[in-house]
Amino acid sequence: MSISQLRIENVGCIQKVDINPHPRFTLLSGSNGSGKSSFLEAIYLLGLARSFRTNNIKNLISDEEKECRVIAEYSDASSTNNKIGISKSRESDTLIRLNQTTLKTASELARILPIRIITQESFSPIDGPSKGRRQFIDWLAFHVEHEFNDTWASVQRLIKQRNALLKQGSRLNVAELSVWDEKLSQCSEKLNVLRQNVFEKLVGNFTPLVSRLLPELNIGLKLNRGWPEQVELAAILRANIERDLKLGYTRNSPNRADLQLKVGDKPASEYLSRGQKKLLICALSLAQIVTFSELKGEEKLPSIVLIDDIGAELDVANRQLLFETLDACNSQVFVTGTELQTSKTFLEKDSYKMFHVEQGRILPA
Ligand SMILES: Nc1ncnc2c1ncn2[C@@H]1O[C@H](COP(=O)(O)OP(=O)(O)OP(=O)(O)O)[C@@H](O)[C@H]1O
Ligand SMILES: [Mg+2]
Repeated sequence: MSISQLRIENVGCIQKVDINPHPRFTLLSGSNGSGKSSFLEAIYLLGLARSFRTNNIKNLISDEEKECRVIAEYSDASSTNNKIGISKSRESDTLIRLNQTTLKTASELARILPIRIITQESFSPIDGPSKGRRQFIDWLAFHVEHEFNDTWASVQRLIKQRNALLKQGSRLNVAELSVWDEKLSQCSEKLNVLRQNVFEKLVGNFTPLVSRLLPELNIGLKLNRGWPEQVELAAILRANIERDLKLGYTRNSPNRADLQLKVGDKPASEYLSRGQKKLLICALSLAQIVTFSELKGEEKLPSIVLIDDIGAELDVANRQLLFETLDACNSQVFVTGTELQTSKTFLEKDSYKMFHVEQGRILPA
């Protein structure tokens, strides 16, 4: 997977940009506020139909403009010169086009252009609530397990129905509840198997990456499924009915699944420094990408990696280590930074293109 041509219109401070990224590394340097993150926002928008910085996507559209647009030509394992485009307007719905057809959902888009981003905002899988960690494993499961999406949606529907029953309190029909418990239990087991499958593969790739990026630390990664091991969810639900009735919702379910990150026996969130956390996020993201490529059989054309402000929190030695690790992963990588002169020396001469960003314009450096 790699983008050969990119057009950006009216994204943040970028009014109009046309560039041909390098199939491996595209480096963008520029001062604060020049438009580096806006550039990455445009690619992210193209892959996920959303922003990595704002929940209100309309804030992404340049002030005074009605619509933003990103169009790319890309190749993947099965085809070349595909054209994909997204437009967002202030008034109407998002429009996503692939070649001559209109795509209906953002998840169709996400399947086509798998993108991983590492930014100041991406520490949530370490520091934030469990949702970020579930999304982390689910991104992979979504992309490689074709039953995942429907199974996940069924679990959500069943939990919602069960919660509605729990809210009936004393009027609750216990026999009816146990029917839902069985269904939820079966569906949850299936979801857990799909998560476990990708998790095992992920760990296989994460272990060498993390020992390369953080060689001095013993970092462990575990997937907790959301209810105790060795017991069926239905049995847990039955045993905890009084608690769930009091709470008014279902406590144990795959929605409580979590990735446990530890350094020795201590939580990574409390033990690691900021720079170490950034390297850990990189190891996790790259493990995702490598696993994704392996499971999809697209070793030569993996997904796209965006790294915003690579210099933040990393010293020169770790930046070099990260570039070398990225190089070994074979993805198309877009990197921004206020200063990338040192970084470019870590790359082979013909493996990158460098641009300078200035007031929303992208110029060859
Ligand atoms: N909707 C918008 N329309 C026009 N300009 C915007 C919009 N949203 C943000 N901007 C401006 O775009 C400029 C570039 O922002 P961006 O975050 O891309 O900069 P940056 O190069 O990543 O800077 P930094 O190095 O500080 O991270 C900023 O001046 C910002 O205020
Ligand atoms: Mg920025």
